[in-house]
Amino acid sequence: MSRSVVLVYRELPPDQLERIRAEHEVIVADPFLPGQEAPFFEALGRASGMIGALYPVGPALLARAPELRVVSSISVGVDAYDQAALAGRGIVLCHTPGVLDEAVADLLMGMVLALGRRIPELAEYVRAGHWTGNVGPSLYGWDVHGKTLGVLGYGRIGHAVARRAALGFRMPVLYCARSPRESGLPEGMARQVPLPELLAESDFLVVVLPLTDETRGLLGAPELARMKPGAFLVNAGRGAVLREDALLRALDEGRLRGAALDVFATEPLSRESPLRTHPKVLPLPHVGSATHETRHAMAEMATSNLLMALRGEPPLAAYPLRRQS
Ligand code: GLV
Repeated sequence: MSRSVVLVYRELPPDQLERIRAEHEVIVADPFLPGQEAPFFEALGRASGMIGALYPVGPALLARAPELRVVSSISVGVDAYDQAALAGRGIVLCHTPGVLDEAVADLLMGMVLALGRRIPELAEYVRAGHWTGNVGPSLYGWDVHGKTLGVLGYGRIGHAVARRAALGFRMPVLYCARSPRESGLPEGMARQVPLPELLAESDFLVVVLPLTDETRGLLGAPELARMKPGAFLVNAGRGAVLREDALLRALDEGRLRGAALDVFATEPLSRESPLRTHPKVLPLPHVGSATHETRHAMAEMATSNLLMALRGEPPLAAYPLRRQS
């Protein structure tokens, strides 16, 4: 089998880099790092495969990658890739569904708890030396157990968070998905509802939607206005699903009590963004899957995908590309 050039554009664990090196020539260049954009594009000119995440791959980049046959994303979401452009060139796009579901669901539950019980705010209170007496109602949080958890986007991650909420926290679960879907939970614990009902009834609304033409801007001012007064919003899908300006207004007007956001319309979040310092926003740096174990599992799956596709074998998870964008 002939050796190809593989461009690694995000840090890979050494054991996975070795697996690629055993079969191919490897060039490591992360275009997000200073001084690495030129080597990245230089390598692109010779690469048959690329493995990484988040960097936008569209027609302009593909025009500089004449040999490219396989793009292996170390992510489940594929919104950074222009599907029609990849399909037009017959390039295989692979991703890493499944291995991150539990880690993302753990973080989502953590975000729900952090908001309800005001954990970051109370830690700050202690750190600042304000804890000089008993804590009174002005610092009380809100119960999480028994409250209604709404899940918008009921795929594997949505189900994993619903399972935690229903079985672990006795939260009634409502969920909304494009097509009829079994909850996968014991009878009576979860119910599929249309979006207006989900918005109106959820005390904690957890959003885990991928970014597509249908979901971009799906949660704007009208939808946020339909949310239960005093509800909390948690987003760990993609930032552009939510209109951030509308969220800020809903928080400032006191209609929503708080929001925890692991994803933003533009990442990394700019220093100027009001979401960075807003007292009712808990911002996280897109870390849903960022545990040692899960990121390693994702890197391993992405490496297997890459190697299999370059050998001409069906990879573990090829993304079914849409020809029309
Ligand atoms: C993370 O956001 C992913 O798509 O894996």
